[in-house]
Amino acid sequence: GMATAIVLAAGKGKRMGKGYNKQYILLRDKPIIVHTLDIFEKSQYINDIILVVGKEEVAFVKEEIIKKYNFRKISKVIVGGKERQDSVYEGLLVANKDCETVLIHDGARPFVEEGMIKNSIAMAEKFGAAIVAVPVKDTIKRANYQLEVIDTPERKELWAVQTPQTFQYILLKKAHDQARKEGILVTDDAMMVERLGHLVKIVEGSYKNIKITDPQDIIIAEGILSKEE
Ligand code: CTP
Ligand code: MG
Repeated sequence: GMATAIVLAAGKGKRMGKGYNKQYILLRDKPIIVHTLDIFEKSQYINDIILVVGKEEVAFVKEEIIKKYNFRKISKVIVGGKERQDSVYEGLLVANKDCETVLIHDGARPFVEEGMIKNSIAMAEKFGAAIVAVPVKDTIKRANYQLEVIDTPERKELWAVQTPQTFQYILLKKAHDQARKEGILVTDDAMMVERLGHLVKIVEGSYKNIKITDPQDIIIAEGILSKEE
């Protein structure tokens, strides 16, 4: 079936160190967020897009992103919250009443692919929750704050998590409501669903599906784009 995409762009981009939201940095000729939105706009599995932005960015986004690039699937532009999970929650609150499947995606991940969207929605419809991830390439150590190694988890069991993360709407809303009630801060949406004791399935992502986080990632992103041509 189809899904509503909640695209998150309400962060501050502190690690990028630009002094403005990293999602408006140009990659080639277009802002990062435009690369991301293009994929959902063109996806045959996405019904509508809820775009979550910073308080001071709404007017700019409406004019310089949505109008300028002629996006038609963006049904709402809303203001995000302090933490990423607050921004997701704001998106959940304004989703259509008939929305069954919701896909959460970082605006700062412009290399998401149609196949991941398709597989994520299919898995979420079947199992309730599906997250895109890739096997870790490095050996991962667990350590304490004195930098003493505690142990080495089995690499075959470790996955680096990306977005999209896709859920049956009711399940994700319930997970968020529960986390808010308990005052729990998480780093991804799946963690809240896991805490409910609900199964979360992994969908194979891609090593290209990076989150643009610091200046080094801009160089990597330019490299990915030039290879695609
Ligand atoms: N995000 C959001 N609302 C927040 C925080 C983050 O919508 N309160 C979004 C970001 O815009 C980004 C995604 O969540 O697309 C992943 O977050 P991250 O990469 O950490 O982006 P920033 O928080 O902007 O960067 P930083 O942590 O370096 O400040
Ligand atoms: Mg952040």
